[in-house]
Parts: sequence; C-alpha cells; structure tokens
Amino acid sequence: MTRAPLAPFPALRMRRLRQADWIRRLVRETTLTPADLIWSVVVHDGEGKVPVASMPGMSRLSIPDLAAAAREARALGIPALAVFPFIDGVHKDALGAHAADPENLVARAVAAIKDAAPEVGVICDVALDPFTDHGHDGVIENGRILNEATVERLVAQALMQARAGADVLAPSDMMDGRVGALRQALEAEGHTDVMIMSYAAKYASGFYGPYRDAIGSGKLGTGSVENPADKKTYQMDPANTNEALREVALDIAEGADMVMVKPGMPYLDIVQRVSEAFAVPTFAFQVSGEYAMLMAAAQNGWLDEERVILESLSAFKRAGAAGVLTYFAPRAARMLGA
Ligand code: PBG
Repeated sequence: MTRAPLAPFPALRMRRLRQADWIRRLVRETTLTPADLIWSVVVHDGEGKVPVASMPGMSRLSIPDLAAAAREARALGIPALAVFPFIDGVHKDALGAHAADPENLVARAVAAIKDAAPEVGVICDVALDPFTDHGHDGVIENGRILNEATVERLVAQALMQARAGADVLAPSDMMDGRVGALRQALEAEGHTDVMIMSYAAKYASGFYGPYRDAIGSGKLGTGSVENPADKKTYQMDPANTNEALREVALDIAEGADMVMVKPGMPYLDIVQRVSEAFAVPTFAFQVSGEYAMLMAAAQNGWLDEERVILESLSAFKRAGAAGVLTYFAPRAARMLGA
C-alpha cells in the first residue's frame, strides 16, 4: 500500500484521536452538563400553558406549571430558573410602576418556585419592559430614556424581588450605574447574600424579537423622536467589542458577582474575550431569536434538532462560558442523560 507522504511529519495523523467514541470522549476539551444550564421560563397569570407562536415548543407557564417546572429542574439537575413575566395590559403604564408591586406575578412566581423546589435557584430579570406600556426598559421623557429615574425604579423592583426570595438579580436594562445602586440598596436592607448577575454586555439586537411575543411587550415605538423604535441609546452597538470589556469591568467594580453576554451565538467572540479577561463567572444568553432560528429550521427538516441544540450549547462552553441561559434547558438536560 502506498500513501501520500504527510510532510513534514509523516507520522502526524490528527484522525488517530478521533477513531472511536471512547478516545473522543477521553480527549474532549469541554463538556456540557445539566449543571451548565439556566432554564429561562415565561410565566403568565392565567391558567395552563400558552404556546408562543414564534417559539415553537415554548409556552408561557401558569404558576402551578412553573412550580412543576421547578421540580423538573431539580430532577434534571438544572441549577436555576430565570423568570420572565407576561404582564397583563391592565398592569402596564408609562413608568412600569407595577414592577415593584410585592403582589405582582414575579413575586408570586418566585414564591411558587421556592415552595416547590427550594434547592433550585431563582433568577429575576430586573428591567421595566414587561411592565411599561411603551415596551422600553426605562422611564421616557421627550423620547429619551432617563438614566437616574430608571435606576431608582429598578432599585425598587429589585428590592421587592429580593424580599420575595429571589436568589439572583439580573439587571437587563443597561442603564449606567444600576449594578452599584442595586448592590448598595441590597446591602442597606440586609440582603447580603442576594447575588447580582448583570447583563453586562447586552447588545441592541434583532434576536430578541420572539421574546417580545413571549412576554407580550408588543412592538416598540414608531421611530419618532418621542417614541423610539429601538433600544440603541441604552443597549450596545452590535459592531463593538472593546466596549463590552469596559461594560463588564464597570459592572464588576460596582459589585456584580457574575456577568452575562447577550445574545449568545452571534456574540461568541465577546463571550470568549470577557471570560478570558475577567476572573468572574461569565454566562451567555441563548436568546429567543436563536431558539426560533434553530426550531424553524428543524421543523422544516433542514437541521437535526437534537444535534444542533447540543452543539449550539456546547459552543458556549468552548468559548469559556460558565453556563448558558436557554429555553432548551430541560430538553438539553434530558438529552444529556440527566
Ligand atoms: C428585557 C429583556 C429582553 C430579553 C431579556 N430581558 C429583551 C430586550 O432587551 O429587548 C431578551 C430575551 C430573549 O430574547 O430571549 N430587558
């Protein structure tokens, strides 16, 4: 048998370590386990499960369904749930005042999870958009999202969530100084153990589209000066990468225990840079649009659903993420043989 010489190292064959499953497993550089997953769930105030059209296979959960999900997470070894509320229109206003109401859906959802499975961590989104009638994450004046006025409301919302029993507060609003303000308010009220996972590098992304469906926050404004149609004055420009490092550095200095990059797959370079540059756990959010893309292609028979779910999640581990927020969490955990 003759073979072409593999110059300059005739004995170097990369395929040797790929020849069988046992050796592939042995030399695998990263592993994905259920402990890497944070299950993002949308909760609503009605009964039963309400499918989200733009997110096939995803439903808004009632409070009892959410309790069941918490028990399922525990059984599957998923460490935590991230809760997002679908708020009824009657509770929305320009200021998002209902966000800090101690009887609101989020407060009841946290209590239900803690009651059903106290071992499962609860992460609450700190942001006003589910509660504002305009869908922005802050207080608006003449078309400007006011930073300080918004931070004040975020602090009220976060304190309510901490009192309700949330383990982790995850500010997703991108106002300046909100992590420091939250930390200070938490300490002042004795919530010293409540953790902050900041959405530190959050981009003004088109990939959040289906989420707006899921939480019913409608279409953003008309695009007029008074009514901005995007979040570009507070979320990051998708073209930027150094800016992400500055955002993360600031959030850590202000007291964030963990940071997040969002969206996930289109921003894997940012996940890698952040996780290399800072010694804090870095998470990635596989957002609604990423979920929708994979599911739409799979439903057309264009992608092998189970394969791409696990492959997309493994990519985050390879990039250095400590874990991933994902709507696929229970499915992935089951596939991983939990
Ligand atoms: C709100 C918030 C958003 C998401 C999580 N929190 C949307 C946005 O900022 O417009 C997106 C989640 C997803 O798309 O899965 N502050």
